Amino acid sequence: MVVGTPGVGKSSVSAYLASCLQGIHIDLSRLIQQEGYSCGLDKKRKTLIADLDKAAKRVKEIISQSEGYVIVDGHFAMDVVQAKNVFLAFVLRRNPDELQEILRQRGFGSEKITENVAAEILDVCLFETVKVYGKERICEVDVSCRAIEDVVEEIMEVIENQKKCRVGVVDWLAKLEREDRLGDFLV
Ligand SMILES: Nc1ncnc2c1ncn2[C@@H]1O[C@H](COP(=O)(O)OP(=O)(O)O)[C@@H](O)[C@H]1O
Ligand SMILES: [Mg+2]
Repeated sequence: MVVGTPGVGKSSVSAYLASCLQGIHIDLSRLIQQEGYSCGLDKKRKTLIADLDKAAKRVKEIISQSEGYVIVDGHFAMDVVQAKNVFLAFVLRRNPDELQEILRQRGFGSEKITENVAAEILDVCLFETVKVYGKERICEVDVSCRAIEDVVEEIMEVIENQKKCRVGVVDWLAKLEREDRLGDFLV
């Protein structure tokens, strides 16, 4: 599983990882959109509300039919994939300055950028993932300033047991506090 705040690089990394492992890549946001798994409209956010039960059933089906690796990518993947089906969960982290720039380039509105960058600073995705799967299978990877190939190489080393899983790799809160820039991001 590959999780992380929107914009960290989950889909890019997962697609490349799947090609290295000759596995199947499931981009949850794309699956939900393509299959029309929605159950209402979020008026405030002006987006559809994803039907996570339907997505979960479909992912379970794909996993059960597959003989090789299945790489599931999504910032809410921990709410979709059951713990018993997860071999390893990689939480990608990107420093707030880079993430802000990527989300700007993607055309996100300022409110959405602030919300997502704050979530990254506050470890929201890591916390949610640990809460669902426990710490043992979780591997935090700092992707800041790194090429996709380099990130995938690190992930492959963990999969092949040459490198240990670890959490507590980044601390954006402490970094920004040290630099006296926390107020620039968390208002
Ligand atoms: N390692 C990287 N270095 C530079 N840019 C990247 C890297 N990984 C992803 N990107 C770019 O960042 C943007 C977000 O990547 P994406 O894989 O869509 O993230 P996510 O799936 O987490 O939302 C894309 O424009 C992508 O091309
Ligand atoms: Mg994506």
